[in-house]
Amino acid sequence: MPTLKVTDTTGDTVAIDAHNGLSLMEILRNSGYPIAGACNGSTACATCHVVIDDDWAAKLPSLSNDEEDRLDSVVNLQKNSRLGCQIEMTDTLSGMALTIPA
Ligand code: FES
Repeated sequence: MPTLKVTDTTGDTVAIDAHNGLSLMEILRNSGYPIAGACNGSTACATCHVVIDDDWAAKLPSLSNDEEDRLDSVVNLQKNSRLGCQIEMTDTLSGMALTIPA
């Protein structure tokens, strides 16, 4: 089972199971993290905002124009900010570290 290393808004870091084929948003929401995913992945809400660890950010697919536009509306935008709904879990991402911004 692939895993993700998730740091929550309190700074706690936990490794969680991450099913291939689900988006990071779905994995985090299913695991009980405060990720609303209000638009269910249509790049309309940014409630799935996550920050990817430096070591992993370059391994992800490039941002689409829609993702980039939506991220522009995020208040606490960071260098490796991504929309979790736009990243699908695969074996190659197993072990990836990310942070849920406060
Ligand atoms: S779930 Fe709405 S933009 Fe990702």
